[in-house]
Amino acid sequence: MNYKIALIKGDGIGPEVVGEAVGVLEAVGKRFGHTFDFVDVLLGGCATDAVGKSYPDGTAEVCRACDAVLLGAVGGPKWGSDKPAEQRPETALLAIRKDLGLYANLRPATLRSAMAGACPLKKETAEKGIDLMMVRELTGGVYFGKRDRYQTEDRGVECTDLMAYSEKEIERIGRRAFELARLRRGKVSSVDKANVLETSRLWRSVMHRLAGEYPDVAYEDVLVDNCAMQLVRDPGQFDVVVTENMFGDILSDEASMVTGSIGLLPSASIGDAAPGLYEPIHGSAPDIAGQDKANPIATILSVAMMFRYSFQCAEEAAAIEHAVDAVLAEGWRTPDIAEPGAAAIGTREMGRLIREHI
Ligand code: NAD
Ligand code: IPM
Ligand code: MN
Repeated sequence: MNYKIALIKGDGIGPEVVGEAVGVLEAVGKRFGHTFDFVDVLLGGCATDAVGKSYPDGTAEVCRACDAVLLGAVGGPKWGSDKPAEQRPETALLAIRKDLGLYANLRPATLRSAMAGACPLKKETAEKGIDLMMVRELTGGVYFGKRDRYQTEDRGVECTDLMAYSEKEIERIGRRAFELARLRRGKVSSVDKANVLETSRLWRSVMHRLAGEYPDVAYEDVLVDNCAMQLVRDPGQFDVVVTENMFGDILSDEASMVTGSIGLLPSASIGDAAPGLYEPIHGSAPDIAGQDKANPIATILSVAMMFRYSFQCAEEAAAIEHAVDAVLAEGWRTPDIAEPGAAAIGTREMGRLIREHI
């Protein structure tokens, strides 16, 4: 097959990790007989520098004409929160997710067998294994609610960020979670703050209705603060974890670390129509950008998710995952996952080794 793929390299380590992921795509193409047309799409701080806007006009249309989108990361201190919204890289990321209707963000946190030693938890906890799928709602909640900033008479400046969720938004992400659980170990943990938030009480009531429709799937409610604790106490208890946008953002960074490093965790952002967008969960890592130190595995595994979820190519996806596991089993490590004091390899070398195994 020929696939047209939009590449949003972005800022910081974005171009470095996307470069290695593209190399892996090409290696998979060679082995399985696929070809690719790549379309470079400018988005983020680099777009602000080039055209004055982080989300240039027509970006969504260009992406919609592709079969999938691969994104590195956007952001950095140069385009900080003091800048107007249209120049901030994060504004562009939220806009592209919304415009492409990508309401479901799948973030699989898996402790790969070769990585057991990198798990910062107790040995017994790591030995139980970690294999959970965080299903994060991606186009609603406080990320997209009305914001306000105004001067008060007696309290100085005051700001508000509205958190809103509709039944429809909750139901569609909930269904994704239950359907995924059916293909996995058959358990959904729904994370909310229903002891405080009205949006969470609605979330919980919709999830309970869905649980009734999926009697074959085990279901539990977990309060978000307890979930954060359970993720370090016993992450092996979780199969599918479904939650709203901001809780999912925070909990997935935490879940990534218990599997060794944020540099390992991929994601798929999908909606009801193509294209899906594939992105590591990490950011642009300005502290290590341009130094050949970034771990490209999260982005490379995001390409595996692209094959699985956008192209229905399970064999190609598995080939990438096996290549990553083989390189890790041989002991190759980027600095983020190397034992303290042990030798590490760079971004490019890690990419090359993974390509070699495909
Ligand atoms: P970050 O994820 O960029 O970095 C956090 C820490 O993890 C840093 O120490 C970094 O070096 C390390 N790290 C991240 N990815 C790594 C990798 N692949 N290999 C090795 N180490 C890695 O988070 P931050 O520093 O809070 O944010 C930096 C910028 O990135 C901000 O502007 C933020 O808004 C943006 N951001 C973008 C995305 C995205 O584009 N999807 C996601 C998160 C943050
Ligand atoms: C992520 C990031 C983004 C988010 C930011 C950069 C807007 O942290 O993809 O996890 O919060 O969704
Ligand atoms: Mn995040």
